Amino acid sequence: DRIHDLERLLGRISLAACSPRDLIALKNSIAVLPEIRQTLQRCDSKDLQRFIESWDPLESVHQRIDRTIVDDPPYNMKDGHLIKPGCHEELDRLKTITRDGNQSIAALEARERKRTGIPPLKVGFNKIYGYYIEVTKKNLDRVPADYIRKQSLVNCERFISPELKQHETEITGAEEKIHALEQELFQEVRQAVAAEGPRIQAMAVLISELDVMASLAEVAHRHQYTRPVVKDNTDLRFVNGRHPLVEQIDPSHPFIPNDTTLDCGNHQIMILTGPNMAGKSTYLRQVALITLMAQIGSYVPAEEAELGLVDRIFSRVGAKDHLLKGQSTFMVEMNEAANILNNATQRSLIILDEIGRGTSTFDGISIAWSMVEYLHGPERIGAKTLFATHYHELTELGGTLPGVQNFNVQVKEWNDEIIFLRKIVPGGADKSYGIQVARLAGLPEAVLNRAHEVLFNLENSEYDELGTPNIGRSESAAPSGPQQMGLFPALSPPLVQKLKDIRPDELTPREALDKWYEILKLLNHS
Ligand SMILES: Nc1ncnc2c1ncn2[C@@H]1O[C@H](COP(=O)(O)OP(=O)(O)OP(=O)(O)O)[C@@H](O)[C@H]1O
Ligand SMILES: [Mg+2]
Repeated sequence: DRIHDLERLLGRISLAACSPRDLIALKNSIAVLPEIRQTLQRCDSKDLQRFIESWDPLESVHQRIDRTIVDDPPYNMKDGHLIKPGCHEELDRLKTITRDGNQSIAALEARERKRTGIPPLKVGFNKIYGYYIEVTKKNLDRVPADYIRKQSLVNCERFISPELKQHETEITGAEEKIHALEQELFQEVRQAVAAEGPRIQAMAVLISELDVMASLAEVAHRHQYTRPVVKDNTDLRFVNGRHPLVEQIDPSHPFIPNDTTLDCGNHQIMILTGPNMAGKSTYLRQVALITLMAQIGSYVPAEEAELGLVDRIFSRVGAKDHLLKGQSTFMVEMNEAANILNNATQRSLIILDEIGRGTSTFDGISIAWSMVEYLHGPERIGAKTLFATHYHELTELGGTLPGVQNFNVQVKEWNDEIIFLRKIVPGGADKSYGIQVARLAGLPEAVLNRAHEVLFNLENSEYDELGTPNIGRSESAAPSGPQQMGLFPALSPPLVQKLKDIRPDELTPREALDKWYEILKLLNHS
């Protein structure tokens, strides 16, 4: 933090409104350069030598500022006192006048006290009236004849004398000239420095590059990152990868590392299921971040990392909406999905976090399902894809498409609680544990208990005599209000049973016709 933001400073210095403090900040930054250069010279890396070759110490800029501008100038240029003594003869002469002027005012005050015999007499100054001699009311009878009244206050009167008037003219004249000269000299330095803009700019770029390198090196060293191996293929393999930020949040909860294997063959699409809070989003982002870090030339938070370069990383994460831009949450989600499907290539990496959740369950599953099919295989898009979802239906794709693998984030169930193990393991998850997570968040107990009942009914697809789903049924009391439609409304079981029981080969045409009447009757009843 001893080097200021050089580009910003330069931007201000090129404008006449620049503050003298901007010049000093630039000077102080330049003063650090020799130290950095020495440090670089001690390194034997060829890449770092390149910095020394194009090094510009900017000494002339430093000198120009240092010779002229005081080290601790006021914020506001109008306050004066910007210029160091010894840079400009006339300025020094004028400053002597004002300094001596102040002394002679003090002498004048002493003389006047003696002459008038008024001990509390004082000479003062204010911006509106200039210099004045102040005499308290009870001493007014001793005021000499050559005093001219200027101002009356409650307890005192203020006067000017011819001698004081003359001093005032000299001093304020000098002050005005000082002010003008200081401005002039300051603008001269500013322009001279601004003229060196391209040199300063080049060093700003060089220093910021070094800054990036030093920072990446430091985090790599501090957090045991490894050097990724970049290969000439489309595979991606991380061993014990971590999320570079989440792992820093809470040192008392160690981050659980996870492996990743993706390629354009049997591991092209990873469908990741698992309870809420399990760590799905974290994992998706960590894979994208490790890839990104590897490609910017950084070490990565993993034990081992090997990857072929990706051409783009596409992500559809989070639920931001752009209501002000006239787009709903779901519309934003679909826009981003469209962008991915229209632009991804086999060399891309895609992370999709809960695509389809912004709409009804059936629509969501359908969109997610067909997206996976569209992404799958080299004859379609074929991009390496991580897909986190709560739609367990999607895990069925793992059985039908060769490039799709199911994974889930492990949890342990304990009484009615869940323990998050955060380990990614093969296979699909069986449950969402949404209600348990809702308990962790502090939902009222009554809401949780009722949710359990509704879930139970849903999972058992209970139907009443007419085949209407019974999700609202309660052990304790009849639910009030209108019955809610089920998440999965289906054909009523009696009807299904009837259909299943039909043996077409064993029916005469007459019996088949009778069956149709029975079915229609059931349908009309439900
Ligand atoms: N590998 C890990 N090791 C330790 N803590 C983790 C790990 N992964 C995630 N966490 C912690 O768990 C929290 C929840 O993770 P995350 O948001 O990824 O869950 P999720 O499965 O996406 O949940 P949801 O389904 O609700 O979106 C994170 O904020 C983080 O604190
Ligand atoms: Mg998530």
